[in-house]
Amino acid sequence: MIEFRNICKRFGSTPANDGVSFSIKDGEIHAVVGENGAGKTTLMSILYGLCRQDSGAILIDGREARIHSPRDAIAMGIGMVQQHFALVKRFTVAENIILGQEGVRFCINRRRANERIAGLSRSFGLSVSPEARIEDLSVGEQQRVELLKVLYRGADMIILDEPTAVLTPQEIEALYATMERMRESGKTIIFITHKLREVFRVADTITVMRNGRSVATVAAEDLTPQRLGELIIGRELPASAERGCEPGCGDALVLENLVVSGHRGDRALRGLSLSLRENEVLGIAGVEGNGQRELVEVLCGLRKPESGTVLLFGRDVTREPPWLLRSEGMAHIPEERRNGMVTEFTVCENLVLGYQTDFSRAGVLRLNSIRERALELVKEYDIRPEDINAGMGDLSGGNQQKVVVARELMKDPRILIANQPTRGLDIGATAFVHQKLLERKRSVLLISSDLDEILELSDRIAVIFEGRIVREFRRDEVTLEALGLAMMGGDDHAVE
Ligand SMILES: Nc1ncnc2c1ncn2[C@@H]1O[C@H](COP(=O)(O)OP(=O)(O)OP(=O)(O)O)[C@@H](O)[C@H]1O
Ligand SMILES: [Mg+2]
Repeated sequence: MIEFRNICKRFGSTPANDGVSFSIKDGEIHAVVGENGAGKTTLMSILYGLCRQDSGAILIDGREARIHSPRDAIAMGIGMVQQHFALVKRFTVAENIILGQEGVRFCINRRRANERIAGLSRSFGLSVSPEARIEDLSVGEQQRVELLKVLYRGADMIILDEPTAVLTPQEIEALYATMERMRESGKTIIFITHKLREVFRVADTITVMRNGRSVATVAAEDLTPQRLGELIIGRELPASAERGCEPGCGDALVLENLVVSGHRGDRALRGLSLSLRENEVLGIAGVEGNGQRELVEVLCGLRKPESGTVLLFGRDVTREPPWLLRSEGMAHIPEERRNGMVTEFTVCENLVLGYQTDFSRAGVLRLNSIRERALELVKEYDIRPEDINAGMGDLSGGNQQKVVVARELMKDPRILIANQPTRGLDIGATAFVHQKLLERKRSVLLISSDLDEILELSDRIAVIFEGRIVREFRRDEVTLEALGLAMMGGDDHAVE
């Protein structure tokens, strides 16, 4: 149905696509995988008309397609859900879906539009209320609105760029079900992901990209996860992360009875207590929306608790500002990497953001030492392109994440709040960051919606439910079933 023929696209000196050729069959789920910066998003942007290839052609049903803008793409039945949603926050779901499709002379038949939306959400399992405002929806619900928007416009080829990175495990299952229903109704889906497990769960065919080229297109049933991993990184898979010595005995962080209001004035934390030992990795597991966000905000000094205390290495820092916490040795990888970077700055500037004073003398920045440090970090973290003057906004998603992680670990923080630390990272980069978190040089509070990550890294796991820690597991006693039950607020005894 879609054929990419020798697609090339350069950005300055970077060949983002360097001769990509493969085909996508009608009615299949086609996964596109590859390392950070391999050129996946660029290729999809070309297909969706967001940018033009320098050379090469896209054939749709055997004929060369001229796609100069998303409008052309939509007219050809191509839809795309991008990583950063394009929704108007103050509009309702229905208004967002029909935006740009109002019909002749801006006349909107709301009743008819609502009926169509309701029909689509029923047939594809995308439940969301048409009258709800976008700003009140969770990320998962917003993604459903994006999908409905694409379906409303009649797309029969749907591009999903890392759709699962921002979803909870429950939402991921629901998305798979939606994708399968789309396939049943004859739609073709292109699915980008870094999670090999997902590829094997839903994809019919897999294309691997490396350094801007397509290196293989294979039926999913002909591959093993091991072999796919090797195809992606072009060599054998790295060994899984090694655990160092046991955590220390002292307390790095003690939270006592925290009561905190959420952003809508409701009680987000209702007497939360927990302690993190020195050089320990403590995983926080929980269904999204049970207080994780507010917990992190309080720890980083971004939200003031109503009552309760936060002790950092024995010192009361409950209402201290973020800069003071940083100077006490706390670092923070934010859930949304966009909150940890400035897209308009260079990679070099982003690598020292917030640590300027460490790189200045008498109020003047020491540019040479900044550059030196940035060059080291770019090498160590394999940030691509290897150019510290590149604009942060021009980096691929995963490479932006590497910049944020590199900066937060740069000063060897005594304590790290790691919120979804490997979101958007490829398998190699994920393994690298996991190894860093297990070095035992710092205490780590790990918040992740990826239970595999929690289970692999944590010395202990605390389960957060409705604003409290309801259960703690030691590494050697936890099972996936018990963890899942506790996350749903399950009864302890039933688990035993
Ligand atoms: N607008 C741009 N300006 C300059 N370079 C760009 C631009 N967009 C992409 N690039 C470069 O093109 C290369 C491919 O990027 P792309 O976003 O396609 O990678 P990707 O495979 O989607 O990676 P990831 O898994 O990290 O999302 C990268 O080296 C990136 O820095
Ligand atoms: Mg990408």
